[in-house]
Amino acid sequence: MTKIEKIVLSYSGGLDTSIILKWLQETYGCEVVTFTADLGQGEELEPARAKAEMAGVKDIRIVDLREEFVSDFVFPMLRANALYEGQYLLGSSIARPLIAKHLVGIAREVGADAVAHGATGKGNDQIRFELAVNALDPSIKVIAPWRQWNIRSRMQLLEYAEKHHIPVPSDKRGEAPFSIDANLLHTSTEGKSLENPAEVAPDHVYQRTVDPLDAPDAPEIITIGFERGDPVSVNGKAMTPAALLTEFNELGGRHSVGRLDLVENRFIGMKSRGIYETPGGTILLAAHRGIESITLDRAAAHLKDEIMPRYAELIYNGFWFAPEREMLQALIDHSQAFVSGEVTLRLYKGSASVISRASPCSLYSADLVTFEESAIAFDHHDAEGFIRLNGLRLRSWAARNGR
Ligand code: ARG
Repeated sequence: MTKIEKIVLSYSGGLDTSIILKWLQETYGCEVVTFTADLGQGEELEPARAKAEMAGVKDIRIVDLREEFVSDFVFPMLRANALYEGQYLLGSSIARPLIAKHLVGIAREVGADAVAHGATGKGNDQIRFELAVNALDPSIKVIAPWRQWNIRSRMQLLEYAEKHHIPVPSDKRGEAPFSIDANLLHTSTEGKSLENPAEVAPDHVYQRTVDPLDAPDAPEIITIGFERGDPVSVNGKAMTPAALLTEFNELGGRHSVGRLDLVENRFIGMKSRGIYETPGGTILLAAHRGIESITLDRAAAHLKDEIMPRYAELIYNGFWFAPEREMLQALIDHSQAFVSGEVTLRLYKGSASVISRASPCSLYSADLVTFEESAIAFDHHDAEGFIRLNGLRLRSWAARNGR
């Protein structure tokens, strides 16, 4: 084994990373610095500090990354209307490069030669962490205990915890919890009974959205202001990116917006089933498409839609810090210069529907589209020629086929 001098560990304070902390200290016999990111996961972070202190950690970093997460990662991604496999809003995928960026930053600051994470060998998250570290600082080594130790299951993990007097948390029902990843964009839940895709997810997996059956009978109308592709206000009130997303999560959660039960294809090769709750992100995706519908040129909008699956897959597969993602981002950002204005949505029992949109940069022309008498010259005979020429090859084709 290579000699490691100092390690920065991505530390949540949860069971897995508490065990990893212990294991790193024992295995490498070196100093471990813990880094805990506040990404708006809605958990107390002070217990993480207390646990790290108990484990003898001298350098404990707890950093509030909420604004950076939303303004530099979530919003750029939403400009693309990114969805993986048509449905997943990438809530976990987009958080990993940000965590990796800070792991690398702290490693450089404290002179650590390695970073460590608690992602398992079967998931996407290990790939995302490590590709990001590769891209940001190739000199830093990555330690992934889940791929190195002989713990092979959650059962064995619990045994290790017991042996080392590490407290094992249980959910409200006293059971071992699901595998949950939460941040300001989403909560994802995997594992246990969800591993059978034929089985209906139990109600208690949902954490931040009410059941649509319990959602209010009265719809709620909200107006979102956009500037150059990014949301900037709600109901006329300007807010910071993280404050806005927090507000949309609140609104969406109350009206059951953004639940998703999905079987997806992991980059590593297997299918997995998860439950996602992305209330604010779901509202913002609908609203962003609403403002784009009047401000983007047709060909520009269609080009964006063509590259979107590719862009989403790059993020899903962990290539946030890669040249091709940056190139696509430049294209996407360029398209947003006039994506400004206001969109009004109705939130009602699980849906977030655009009901009106307006923009000073609108390309929409009522005069052009109207069924009524119009001031703009539109010669209907032009349409006749347009159709005749577009139909030319179809007439040849049909004649050849003998129709
Ligand atoms: N399957 C999702 C993804 O790959 C969520 C992963 C959640 N991570 C976790 N540690 N539970 O983006």
